Amino acid sequence: MTNQDPWWRDAVIYQIYPRSFADADGDGIGDIDGIRARLGHLRDLGVDAIWMSPWYPSPMADAGYDVADFRDIDPVFGSLKKAEALITEAHAAGLRMIVDIVPNHISSEHPWFKAALASPDAPEREYFWFRSQPTNWIGEFGGDTWTRTPDGMWYLHLFTPEQPDLNWEHPDVRAEFEDILRFWFDRGVDGIRIDSAALLLKDTSFPEVAPDKPHPFHDLDGVHEVYRAWRRVADSYPDRALIGEVWMPEVDRFARYLRPDELHAAFNFDFLGCAWDPKLMRECIDRTLAAHETIGAPATWVLSNHDVTRHVTRYGRTKTTFSFEENLDGTPVDLELGTRRARAAALLSLSLPGAAYVYQGEELGLWENESIPPAQFQDPMWGRRGHSRDGCRVPLPWSGDEPPFGFTTGTPWLPQPAEWKDRTVQAQTGDPNSMLELYRTAIHLRRAEEGLHRGTMAWLDTAPGVLAYTRGSTFACVLNMSGVSVPLPDHHSCLLASGPLDGTLLPPDTAVWLRLHPGK
Ligand code: NOJ
Repeated sequence: MTNQDPWWRDAVIYQIYPRSFADADGDGIGDIDGIRARLGHLRDLGVDAIWMSPWYPSPMADAGYDVADFRDIDPVFGSLKKAEALITEAHAAGLRMIVDIVPNHISSEHPWFKAALASPDAPEREYFWFRSQPTNWIGEFGGDTWTRTPDGMWYLHLFTPEQPDLNWEHPDVRAEFEDILRFWFDRGVDGIRIDSAALLLKDTSFPEVAPDKPHPFHDLDGVHEVYRAWRRVADSYPDRALIGEVWMPEVDRFARYLRPDELHAAFNFDFLGCAWDPKLMRECIDRTLAAHETIGAPATWVLSNHDVTRHVTRYGRTKTTFSFEENLDGTPVDLELGTRRARAAALLSLSLPGAAYVYQGEELGLWENESIPPAQFQDPMWGRRGHSRDGCRVPLPWSGDEPPFGFTTGTPWLPQPAEWKDRTVQAQTGDPNSMLELYRTAIHLRRAEEGLHRGTMAWLDTAPGVLAYTRGSTFACVLNMSGVSVPLPDHHSCLLASGPLDGTLLPPDTAVWLRLHPGK
C-alpha cells in the first residue's frame, strides 16, 4: 500500500461486540477495560481497525441498538473517559477506531422521546412519526410497526416499540446527528459504521402496502441527501470513513450509496449470504466487484457479524440460501466440514480486492451456540421471528479448560459451549494448524504482499468447481469447491494453505495462496 491510499480501502476491520469480547469487572458482561486489556490480541492478529458495536447508554432492548445518549457510554461498558483512553491506546497500538451510529431510531428512554410522550404539544413529537392511524407496514423483526400511546396516537418503529423511528425530514434531527459525528471525530474516531443506513426516510404519504411490494421505508431517494451532508462533515476531518450497513440485493441501488460525495464503503451482504457453491460464489464476487468498480469504491467482504449465524455453522450445513431463520429447520451441522470451509473462506475473503471484516471469534473458528436455553435468550428478534441472534453473540473463550474460559471472573451473560476448550486464544496460540494462527499468518502476509493491495484481480482458467485468481503478477489464490482433489497450477511456491495438501493436489474445501514464478 502506498501512503496515498486511504486506509479504509483495503483495511482488515475487526468487529468488537463489546458485551462479549472481554469482561474486566466480573459482572459477566464485556467492557471497555476488558478490551483495553486485550488489545494485544488484536495487535498480534494484525488487523488495521476496530469497529465497536454500540457502547452508548441504553436500556438494551436491542442489545444497545436502542441508544439513549450518543455522547456517553453505558456504565455496564465503562465511561466516556475509558472510551477516550481506549481510542488513544488503540491508536498507539496502530489500530484505527470505528464507532457504530444508529440514526434510524433511538431508545424510547432518550430524552427526546420521553418529552414527546409526555405531552401531545411537545415540540419533540415532530422528531418522530406520530399519527392518528397506524399503517399495515411489517417491521424489520416481523410484526407491527406502530404502538399506541396513552393519548391515543400511534408512533412508528421499524424495530421494537422501544426503538421509535426518527423523522429524518426534520432539520433538528439532521443537525443533531451531524453534531454527533463531530463529537466522535473530535475524539479521534477514524470511522463511523451506519446502522440500517437505507431505512431513514419514509414514504410520508404512509400508504398501505401489499406484503409482496417494496417497503415504503426502504432505500428512498431522500436518504442520499443525508449522506451527502455527512460526507461534508467527514471530509472536514483528515482520513475519516463512513461505512454503511446497506442490506440491498440490487447492486445498482447499493452502489448509489457509494457515490463520491456519499459513503466511503458499505457492507457486502451478498457475499455473506452466498452458499458454498463455486458458480454462485464466482457470480457473487464478479457482481460485487463490477458494482464497486463502476463507482470507484472499495468492495467489502463480510463472512459473519452479530446478526447472522456464524459461518462455521452455516458452511457446515448443505444449504444454497441464507436467511435469519435458516437454523430453525433442524438441518444437521457438520462442524468439521464447516471449519474446513471457514478456513478456506478466510483465505478467499482476505485476498479479494477491497476491505475485509472479521467478526470477533471468527479468528478462533467459533461456531454458533445452538444450545442456549430459550429462557436465556435476550435478543428481541426471538419472540417476533422465532429466531434468536444470541447464538453468534456468545462471550469469547480466551484461556483455560472450561467456561468462562477467562472471559470473566463471574458468570458470562450467555453460556459458552464446553467444547470451546480447543478454541481458546491460549489453546490455539503457537499451534500452526489452528484457525487463529491461520488468520494471524494470512493477515500478516496480506499486509506485506503488494499484490494484495494494489494488484489487479484476474480469474485463472481452472478445473470446474475451482475458483482461482491472481492479484498482480506473482500472487494467486486457488479455492477448491469442486468436491474432488485438483492439481495446482504449475510453477509456484505455496505461501499459505488453509489445510493439508495432497502432494501437488489441492483437496476439496481447501484454499491456497501461491507465489507464481511465471518465468520458470
Ligand atoms: C442492524 C443491527 O446490526 C442489528 O443488530 C439491529 O438489531 C438493527 N440494525 C436495529 O438497529
